[in-house]
Amino acid sequence: MTADALAYPTQTRLFDALDDQPLDAMLTLLQQLRGDPRTDKIDLGIGVYGDEVGRTPVMQAVRQAELIVAEAQTTKAYVAAEGDVRFVALLAPVVLGAARASDDRYCGMQTPGGTGALRLAAELITRANPNARVWVGAPTWVNHYALMRSAGLQVLEHPFFDQATQTILFDEMISALEAAHPGDALLLHACCHNPTGAGFTPDQWRVIADLCARKGLLPLIDIAYQGLGHGLEEDAADMRTLLDIVPEALITASCSKNFGLYRERLGTLWIKGSNAQAALRARANCVKVGRSMWSMPPDHGASVVRTILASPQLTANWLAELATMRTRINSVRADLAKAVPQLALVASQTGMFALLPLSREAVAELRVKHGVYMVENGRMNVAGLQAENLPRFATVLESYLSKGE
Ligand code: LMR
Repeated sequence: MTADALAYPTQTRLFDALDDQPLDAMLTLLQQLRGDPRTDKIDLGIGVYGDEVGRTPVMQAVRQAELIVAEAQTTKAYVAAEGDVRFVALLAPVVLGAARASDDRYCGMQTPGGTGALRLAAELITRANPNARVWVGAPTWVNHYALMRSAGLQVLEHPFFDQATQTILFDEMISALEAAHPGDALLLHACCHNPTGAGFTPDQWRVIADLCARKGLLPLIDIAYQGLGHGLEEDAADMRTLLDIVPEALITASCSKNFGLYRERLGTLWIKGSNAQAALRARANCVKVGRSMWSMPPDHGASVVRTILASPQLTANWLAELATMRTRINSVRADLAKAVPQLALVASQTGMFALLPLSREAVAELRVKHGVYMVENGRMNVAGLQAENLPRFATVLESYLSKGE
């Protein structure tokens, strides 16, 4: 027995009461990948853009803005609990479009990543309606569940996607949502759905918007991949149509992917209220919650994006680099669909992800035998493929798909 235990024999060991935690699937995959010595391993796991040689470089516009920030910054004193207001103002037309950016029923704030925005949104929903439930389409980003539940919200699933046929189950979704209560929230992906890559048609968006308005559901729209599907404006167009129909909404945006600022943790939360006062009150609640979780969001990424968006030249450079990323993703999609006929629909899906019709066993075997790393549910990061490894991946994959595994 240690001296401590002898001195305090009856003291409770608090940490002994904790439950063991299952490892986070995504982070475990990253660890396994890093520990795999095979030089021909293929990383299709975590959602990080890879270029044609598999690098995730710092964008040039970001690099240039970082140099400007480093030169100009004279202090590291705190900014504000709502973040950098100039950054928020400059990003508003990018996310919401110019008309909504100048509409006082909308307001926004900076958050630590899109994840921080989602957590704040969940907390705000609980504060506004302690009985609210959140509806998510199955499958959705795995962290959505934990983020919503951490705020005490009950998560209910509605059908969304059939993995075997790669199709959206729209009628099933709409009829399941008839069971939603007024005041429930409906989590939607604005574009580049994670994990499926599948998106609603503009008509389907209108049906969803009407359903939200008719049943009094609060849309909670996650726009984490804006610009990586059809274009910066195009990827937000359907979301904006919905915003013009519903009286209230929450939007969570991320600069991780479209600015490549993953580790800087830069996101925003946008609120549409029924009037300016309601929107500002909702934001004040979010600022209060954020203060009790992280106090103030990190500044570096916001300074960088503010610098880019304040400069027409840097903005043009950023847009060109974003277009290069998007074009590459779409051409990998087309090449994969051509190489694996069973995956023809991957070409018409968008963003970084595809959810392949593979069993968990097949995904594990692909990793162990072939060094192909995918998320256990069959999600692949399309941007992890390169001209060099695509043929080998297609051949291996086809053998599993034709066995129906
Ligand atoms: C992903 O889905 O891979 C990314 O959003 C990273 C993450 O944190 O899961």
